[in-house]
Amino acid sequence: MEELTVTAPGLETSPAPTFWVRDIPVFGDAILSPMDGFSDWPFRSMCRKFGSAMSYTEFVRAQHIVMAYQHMAARLTFEEVERPVVFQIYGDDPDQLLQAALKVQDRHPDIIDINMGCPAKTVVHQGAGVGLMRSPLKVARIFRKLTRVLKTPVTGKIRIGWEDFRSYKLIARIVEENGGSLIAVHGRTKEQAYSGQADWDIIAEIKQTVKIPVIGNGDVKVAADIDRMKAYTGCDAVMIGRAAIGNPWIFSHLDRDQVIPEKVFSMVQQHLERHLAFYGERVGMILFRKHALQYLKLQHFSRLVRTQIITRDDPVEFLALLSEAFALDGMKEASS
Ligand SMILES: Cc1cc2nc3c(=O)[nH]c(=O)nc-3n(C[C@H](O)[C@H](O)[C@H](O)COP(=O)(O)O)c2cc1C
Repeated sequence: MEELTVTAPGLETSPAPTFWVRDIPVFGDAILSPMDGFSDWPFRSMCRKFGSAMSYTEFVRAQHIVMAYQHMAARLTFEEVERPVVFQIYGDDPDQLLQAALKVQDRHPDIIDINMGCPAKTVVHQGAGVGLMRSPLKVARIFRKLTRVLKTPVTGKIRIGWEDFRSYKLIARIVEENGGSLIAVHGRTKEQAYSGQADWDIIAEIKQTVKIPVIGNGDVKVAADIDRMKAYTGCDAVMIGRAAIGNPWIFSHLDRDQVIPEKVFSMVQQHLERHLAFYGERVGMILFRKHALQYLKLQHFSRLVRTQIITRDDPVEFLALLSEAFALDGMKEASS
């Protein structure tokens, strides 16, 4: 199988870190966002190979870590080449977050991140995720407690805040003053969730407010947006979520339409192989559908062909159909 050899642009020539998270050097300026259901080991490790500068896990509930629920082990699985690895946890109780952080620290992540951005009802109702942005004192307690006890750097991922309490500047200051080592900012409010325009002025304002590194996030849709956001906001790096699904090449500063079909096919094969190794064949095949859909979006396959491919339960049949569709597509292109 073809080896992935792409590295982040500039990495070969510049050994200097792009920025530091306390004593952890980070090389590169584009980072895969933590995404529940997507930023698992198979996808993260592929993105890291293409140049994603750090590896954030999907978030894990502190309570589940403390109670040692089985699923957390899978969510925190990583491989050495992914470093720096960031374990993201969420919760609202400072003691429970500390207990959870101490427990996961034994798995040797490079960084532990506190989610303060998730707008999902189930999370916000517990006072966690973006719920924390309504409780500045609690955020102070969490960061003070964790940074005093843990040897691992602690960071935070925030949003603008709530429409009636845009607490981003206050929270950013609190994170820094209480020992936090980095802030990632999604430029949307709780109410915006994932739609509407991300406000890059807020990211710029936070960058002006704190001295610790700032990662900007929101509305990075094409490769050129990486440099555009950096230039506009002055942020140290850019975090990419949805635009990376089906296009891990974005971390090599390539848009999906710049990638030849052979590379797409090879990527699907390699991603699927990792996926099945990680989740097992039956579950892995089902979970892979959402990725496959995005990989195939720009191919000229009819909806029927796409559906036939994506709904296959057998990986061998899936790849055979896919290979056939790519070959037909190639012939069509050659004759047109
Ligand atoms: C399906 C999905 C799952 C997400 N899960 C997480 C998560 O576990 N932790 C987190 O901090 N943010 C999570 N996010 C938010 C993303 O990290 C990111 O902030 C958001 O999608 C905006 O970036 P984008 O416009 O590049 O997608 C999630 C977003 C999506 C779409």
